[in-house]
Amino acid sequence: MNRRIRGKINSGEVGAIDDNGVKCECVITDEGNDILEIKSIATVPEYQGKGYARALIEFIVNNYREQYAILQVGTGDSPLTIPFYEKCGFVRSHIISNFFTDNYDHPIYESGIQLVDMVYLQRPL
Ligand SMILES: CC(C)(COP(=O)(O)OP(=O)(O)OC[C@H]1O[C@@H](n2cnc3c(N)ncnc32)[C@H](O)[C@@H]1OP(=O)(O)O)[C@@H](O)C(=O)NCCC(=O)NCCS
Repeated sequence: MNRRIRGKINSGEVGAIDDNGVKCECVITDEGNDILEIKSIATVPEYQGKGYARALIEFIVNNYREQYAILQVGTGDSPLTIPFYEKCGFVRSHIISNFFTDNYDHPIYESGIQLVDMVYLQRPL
């Protein structure tokens, strides 16, 4: 399994797990104040539940722990994402109220639940 950080995209970098082809990717951004943020993490659907996203997060933790104090993610209040982040050691830190209702012109549902607030979770690096 090949774990890597590659290239810069705007102000972020792309982290990837390549295991006979890329299985999981995310964007990593510097949010200031010693905070690193993971955005848009996604595992190829047929390879979900096999530990790829957890492996990518652990790689990011190990790779950046000298440079940042906190690893952060923002997500909707969804049963598809919050339990995953909690299993990966993140705890809820704060919310941006009405983020999804204010920033999208249509309601967004996940697992039948309308996303309203942006929920931030953090773990120490
Ligand atoms: C969320 C996502 C990235 C997880 O990737 P993954 O490679 O399947 O995750 P892993 O296999 O590494 O799972 C790590 C742990 O979280 C658990 N987990 C994953 N999704 C879960 C869920 N919806 N509910 C409960 N636990 C979950 C796994 O069971 C595993 O626990 P374990 O190690 O105790 O067995 C993947 O489901 C995905 O790509 N979803 C679509 C895109 C998305 O929603 N991204 C998040 C943007 S905020």
